[in-house]
Amino acid sequence: MSVVERVAGTAHEIAPVKQTPAGAPKPFDLDFARLETLGHYHPSAESTQLALELRAVKRRLLRRIGFLRSSGERQAFRMPGRQRNLILVTSTRAGEGKTYMAVNLALSLAVEDQIETLLVDADIPRPRVRARFDLPRGLGLADWLTDPSLDAESLCFRAGQAPLSILPEGAPAERAKELFATETSQRLWTALSTADRDRLVIIDAPPVLATTEAVVLAKYVDEIVFVVEANATAEPAAAAAIDELLDVNPNVSLVLNRCLIGAGGSHYQSYEYYDRGQDASPEAPAQPAKGLAHVQG
Ligand SMILES: Nc1ncnc2c1ncn2[C@@H]1O[C@H](COP(=O)(O)OP(=O)(O)OP(=O)(O)O)[C@@H](O)[C@H]1O
Ligand SMILES: [Mg+2]
Repeated sequence: MSVVERVAGTAHEIAPVKQTPAGAPKPFDLDFARLETLGHYHPSAESTQLALELRAVKRRLLRRIGFLRSSGERQAFRMPGRQRNLILVTSTRAGEGKTYMAVNLALSLAVEDQIETLLVDADIPRPRVRARFDLPRGLGLADWLTDPSLDAESLCFRAGQAPLSILPEGAPAERAKELFATETSQRLWTALSTADRDRLVIIDAPPVLATTEAVVLAKYVDEIVFVVEANATAEPAAAAAIDELLDVNPNVSLVLNRCLIGAGGSHYQSYEYYDRGQDASPEAPAQPAKGLAHVQG
């Protein structure tokens, strides 16, 4: 499958919505001490296991979306007519570490790499991002999907210490899956992607087997990071969830979470490409056969 065909079928084939004039996001301070107590990335802990593992995850991810050359040199996300900056984080079931992963990735990209990053809480049934950053309740994604005339930027919070913005979940929505499965939703994700072509958008999504939202969202995004909780998720369940995602998007990568490394390490062990035959990116490694056995430590 050619790159052009692969991109057609994602959100990028339709025209972006007209942007309203950008409002100012609400400022907030990153409380690193608090984030650290929650087990999250901390800028002063450069050589911790977590920081090292996140670097490996980021490097793979940035290469796959074309932001990093294999030499390590940076380049823009954009190529003519497309961006590859929408990244969905999901898992098989609840509690495997999606929010932990999405928050750490966003913090590490913004703080360590100074990459403009937007973290979106799209897990509307179980939103957790706002609480991690101690942000107040207010309007957010669900409100924007309901009323696209709202200015998305003004719904966001903007960190003072790093190029990080957060779009929280917003109003509780009983029928979140209906909110996502509309043409408007598709156009709004495209709008988020194109609003800042140098920005990465990390989307914290619900788990695949619990509801249909993650699979709907998977159609709109460029890359999917699939979190697998080590020694906890039954392989058939994870394989079924991954199959559902691969039906709509071939760009799925796995992160194995909560691996016990040495005495006390408990983070991400590996990041491995997972595909069942479609071309995923110019840098995609050789495609393994299906199965979680291909997650490498
Ligand atoms: N590798 C890890 N090390 C330490 N704590 C972790 C790790 N992974 C997850 N956690 C913690 O486990 C709890 C559950 O993780 P998290 O909220 O990220 O899961 P989730 O997949 O987003 O769950 P949900 O489906 O309910 O949204 C959180 O308190 C999180 O901080
Ligand atoms: Mg979560």
